[in-house]
Amino acid sequence: MATSLSQRPVDSSHRRALAPIATPDRLLLGPGPSNAHPTVLQALSRTPIGHLDPLYVELMSEVQELLRYAWQTDNRLTLPMSGTGSAAMEATLANTVEPGDTVLVAVKGYFGHRLADMAGRYRADVRVIERPWGEAFSLEELEAALIEHRPAILAMVHAETSTGICQPMEGVGDLCRKHDCLLLLDTVTSLGGVPLYLDAWKVDLAYSCSQKGLSCPPGLGPFTMGPRAEAKLASRSSKVPNWYLDVSLLNQYWGSDRVYHHTAPVNMNFGMREALRLLAEEGLEQAWARHRRNAEALWAGLERLGLVLHAPEALRLPTLTTVRIPDGVDGKAFSQHLLNNHGIEVGGGLGTLAGKIWRIGLMGYNSNPENVDRLLNLFETELPRFKSAAAAAA
Ligand SMILES: Cc1ncc(COP(=O)(O)O)c(C=O)c1O
Repeated sequence: MATSLSQRPVDSSHRRALAPIATPDRLLLGPGPSNAHPTVLQALSRTPIGHLDPLYVELMSEVQELLRYAWQTDNRLTLPMSGTGSAAMEATLANTVEPGDTVLVAVKGYFGHRLADMAGRYRADVRVIERPWGEAFSLEELEAALIEHRPAILAMVHAETSTGICQPMEGVGDLCRKHDCLLLLDTVTSLGGVPLYLDAWKVDLAYSCSQKGLSCPPGLGPFTMGPRAEAKLASRSSKVPNWYLDVSLLNQYWGSDRVYHHTAPVNMNFGMREALRLLAEEGLEQAWARHRRNAEALWAGLERLGLVLHAPEALRLPTLTTVRIPDGVDGKAFSQHLLNNHGIEVGGGLGTLAGKIWRIGLMGYNSNPENVDRLLNLFETELPRFKSAAAAAA
């Protein structure tokens, strides 16, 4: 017989939680997430199937192969981690770092610091080289640091979302081979939108996210590990200190054995499959060219309005544009106006760039000429009011 325990009601201050969900449609032109493609949303809403159903197992292999295409890699260990980009980021370090290993992190923005923080938590001997937020590393700087620190791993961010800078990668992998270290690359804001050739660049470990260039909601973190990194994992003297992200265990599920590890977020993988299929249907080169075309139109339009772009043209990311907030303008008030009155999200600055820049994303499905025109129109018609408000108050 049921005991008569009194039930805790939903607190009256949260009454709205009992109404059906009613989020507005937003145009997400910030640093991520970006809007998901409509057919990705359809894929997400399909009835789940079991995570060991032979049909799902087939879908897993398809996702893996499409990810290899998107990254231009033959890596066997390529899979979407169940978690966001940070989970995949952590997986690259958790699997390869052993206590005392030297990890050199080339930091030129916010996410480089996150890599350094994570490596330290896996008890690496972390060494950091830094460039100002708005610059990239030269091959000479990287080689000098490799000689000085003799790391087991060089970790860096390809597309630094906090600054809008794209790190040139040609030659970095060769330096890492020459100095006998692994190359770990963050491709969170580049996958699907910026040229990426993991194998040709000799990248040993990389990760990304679902919610930017792939036009899928947040929830999966693509991960890949090449043969040199696999060898480091195989020669570990201690267990991977993170059960959930241990690739040797995960590979029993994603590899040929198909042994249960955790209950896969099957619908997220439906969405990921559709997102990657769309990318393959468009073609990588076409997708990269589209991102560049639309970003160039945005850059030209912003400059026509007298705004200054933070990143030098040669290093500018097509997926994420950083714009300096003009003197006297309250940048946050303007982005709140865009959100509240026009349903458009634009990001603010992080870390040392907080309050100094806006961050505008044109990623995946959102990289199109209509969005560029819509945003430029608003900058043209609405921003002057924020300037005059600031000037009047001064
Ligand atoms: C360059 C970079 N690395 C890592 C991350 C972390 O990814 P997530 O927020 O999906 O965990 C982000 C997030 O925007 C990012 O921009």
